[in-house]
Amino acid sequence: MTEKFFIKGGTPLRGEVTIGGAKNSVLKLMAAALLAKGETKIYNVPDLTDVEIMLNVIAQLGAKTSYNKSEKSLTIDASDLTNITAKYELVSKMRASFIVLGALVSRCKEAIVALPGGCAIGERRVDFHIRGLEALGAKIKIENGYVHAKAARLAGADIYLDIPSVGATENLMLAGVLAEGSTRIQNAAQEPEIVDLANFLNAMGADVNGAGTSEIVINGVKQEDLHPIEYTTIPDRIEAGTFMTAIIATRGKAIIKEVYPAHLTFFTDKLLKMGANIKLIEPNSLEVSCKNKLNSINFITQPYPGFPTDLQSMAMTLLTTANGVGIITESLYENRFMQVPELRRMGADIHQDRNHAIIKGVKKLSGATLAASDLRAGASLVVAALMAEGNSVIEKLHHIDRGYENFETKIRLLGGKIERKDDTAPNLTEDIHNESYL
Ligand code: EPU
Repeated sequence: MTEKFFIKGGTPLRGEVTIGGAKNSVLKLMAAALLAKGETKIYNVPDLTDVEIMLNVIAQLGAKTSYNKSEKSLTIDASDLTNITAKYELVSKMRASFIVLGALVSRCKEAIVALPGGCAIGERRVDFHIRGLEALGAKIKIENGYVHAKAARLAGADIYLDIPSVGATENLMLAGVLAEGSTRIQNAAQEPEIVDLANFLNAMGADVNGAGTSEIVINGVKQEDLHPIEYTTIPDRIEAGTFMTAIIATRGKAIIKEVYPAHLTFFTDKLLKMGANIKLIEPNSLEVSCKNKLNSINFITQPYPGFPTDLQSMAMTLLTTANGVGIITESLYENRFMQVPELRRMGADIHQDRNHAIIKGVKKLSGATLAASDLRAGASLVVAALMAEGNSVIEKLHHIDRGYENFETKIRLLGGKIERKDDTAPNLTEDIHNESYL
């Protein structure tokens, strides 16, 4: 079955949309649950393919898991871990599962985890993770595509990250929880997901300080100090940012519920500068609207609290029809402009030179058949199709399904004309210019 989105552009999004739990947080909380013996329950867990893959990874390690779809809750019983190997077949499907390395080394003092390799958006090395674990006393061997880490004991150490890597900070936080003494991570990532992980670990009995700043200190505790917990994941700031973009792009007006505005201040500031209206109407609700043509802006993607790389493609979509010229510099990944050729096919005027993109606003985008190349590029094409004149088809939805729960349902509730169809089904017109398209 090959599913595609069929989108008819030009309808302003209106109404209300509720944001789900943060993918990039919950995947790490699932690994953190392996540290405590007993049954941990996590709430606000989105139903995503990435969550499913992570469930398979931790089940393979011996954790007993169950996901309650209607309650959006997940139970993980990590009383007995029976296996220390995370296989390539699973890790290669989702590189975030490399996070089990820190949890396993912490709890079992040994782990064999497949190296995730590169991915479509960039090389995405894991050298900081490995160097950090070595600093804590783990002996590391890289053999046959696997990292084999072993430690008679882990001892706290000072670790300086060359760049504030989210994954390395998280892996080392997990490893430090059961190390002897204090682990100090300097130039640590400051993302809200790091704070969520620290809050989760502290609720479990760990002693993690400074999360959300560039220096995190983890005072090691003993295994018996850790206990299972119940915990609610933070909202997904990137999903919220995607809906903000879609509402603005279609010149709509809608309320976004269950969003933490403080997690999106840099992005919001740029949208305001472009001419969008964003109002806080309740502590966790934003009203987003836009009537007029937008102004262009320039920005550089940066680690939090800078402009999030995961929303770069969404902002680019807005710039395609804004007044003037906008310049984007992507500073985190080597290859995160994969939406550019697709946007050009819709009529966008974009000049790209390595990690810089110069976007000259055009009058309008027009619908086309488009392919998602990765999660965020794929989502930005959905936004582009919603704002374009005419009909679009978006292929390779598996990329989008990794990180957006019920994406088309939420868009449809806002009035967007989008449908997911199996293109092998009978009676499905392939003529995207047909009037009776949706
Ligand atoms: N890096 C290294 N060596 C390392 C670690 C990272 O060179 O040992 C480099 C990477 O190659 C990359 C940069 O550092 O160029 C930043 O990588 P980071 O480790 O911060 O990213 P990550 O942990 O792999 C998470 C998110 C990404 C998000 C980035 C940056 C998860 C599961 N993924 O990745 O999310 O873009 O942080 O904010 O948390 C997405 O959701 O679409 C996504 C890609």
